[in-house]
Amino acid sequence: MEKFVINGGKTLSGKVKISGAKNSALKLIAASILADSKTTLRNVPQIEDVSIMVEVLKNLGARVNVDRENKVIEINPESISSYEAPYELVRKMRASILVAGPLLSKFGKVKIAIPGGCNIGSRQIDLHLKGFKDLGAEYSVEHGYVNCYINSSRAGTRLCGTIINLDFPSRGASENIMMAATLAEGKTIINNAAREPEIVDLACFLNSMGANIHGAGTRRITINGVKNLKGTDYEIMPDSIEAGTFIIAAALCGDKVEIEDARWKNLEVFYFKLKEIGVDISVIDENNVRIESSPGTYKPTNINTLPYPGFPTDLQPIIAVLLSVVPGTSVVTENVFENRFMYVDELNRMGAIIKIDGHRAVIRGVEKLSGAPVRSFDLRAGAAMVLAGLAAEGETEVSDIYHIKRGYENFEEKLSLLGADIRRVE
Ligand code: EPU
Repeated sequence: MEKFVINGGKTLSGKVKISGAKNSALKLIAASILADSKTTLRNVPQIEDVSIMVEVLKNLGARVNVDRENKVIEINPESISSYEAPYELVRKMRASILVAGPLLSKFGKVKIAIPGGCNIGSRQIDLHLKGFKDLGAEYSVEHGYVNCYINSSRAGTRLCGTIINLDFPSRGASENIMMAATLAEGKTIINNAAREPEIVDLACFLNSMGANIHGAGTRRITINGVKNLKGTDYEIMPDSIEAGTFIIAAALCGDKVEIEDARWKNLEVFYFKLKEIGVDISVIDENNVRIESSPGTYKPTNINTLPYPGFPTDLQPIIAVLLSVVPGTSVVTENVFENRFMYVDELNRMGAIIKIDGHRAVIRGVEKLSGAPVRSFDLRAGAAMVLAGLAAEGETEVSDIYHIKRGYENFEEKLSLLGADIRRVE
């Protein structure tokens, strides 16, 4: 088992470049199944979750070529001969279920393992399945798997466009349904759709394959089905959550830090919150920002996580670390996942004073955190522990760092280049 050993208290300065977005890359890899020819993806982050998604596609029979050095992946879906996302892979990464929409739409059938809960919540897939059913598919649940198929005696060989009203703007459900609807017959409208920038990236990608999608990024997405899609060449957008993580690292212990490819417009609510706290954040241009840290002047604030364009749940544990050292009381309310405060006990072991009250964390800011051995419970909680370690006095050991490797490319190298004292040890 690997862990990070961090000697806290070092000042960060310099430039860091943000990698391709995990939560876009995974969907684009799945969407490439829909094409009839080879797709090339660029700016693909070299992270564990991408490797798992590549494994999922290879398992289906796709030919995938990964050029790690140039961050390029080529996917040829012509050889796909299986329609199953098995439990071993779905268990490793929940996003494996995003192959369901493309497989169902292109081949008329799919068998996916039901993902079950994870360390941040129960995470059902009812909205995905309801969407597939609205599009004319049928499904049955057996032995931990969902079998979903187009009943050709009833619906012909293609899914049928329709109006789908989502009870909640689930990102995964919006994406799975959008992908499924691209090859459906006729027009599909998704109401109350998720609006994240990654949804727009997926729609642009699908359109570059020949799909006809409008309104991505708004509550209502319209998909006019087409008969087939062709492979494309596409560059993945930068990762806003990685950008937010480095911005908080800089606010905690930076001198002057420049974040390249931060795309601040994708994180507007987060930026306004930082300004409210008193972080000196200046926009260099639409892609790049500069942070000058001045910890003594920060003020407490309240955070409410919400689907985009609200405050992102993925940055909730990370901003909580900053608020834990801001004098006064801040309240963080988690509205998206029911169990995203597992990191709090670990942070309290480092001297933070945080009390959980239902889905709220009440944070009483302390002057300093102190280094301690801590665990990382999930990807973002793990990154939060690393930031706490950077800001703390003394040595922090973060264990279970495989969670962090799932979503941050070269995390410790990037932090080291900024001046952090962090090493990975066995
Ligand atoms: N939900 C349902 N039924 C469904 C789908 C979702 O009840 O059919 C609920 C979930 O249980 C959850 C909420 O809706 O409480 C939000 O789920 P959503 O479907 O929006 O999330 P997701 O697609 O599973 C993605 C990201 C997460 C991110 C969330 C919210 C990927 C691979 N994952 O998950 O990213 O937190 O959206 O923005 O895109 C991360 O990167 O660390 C991460 C967890």
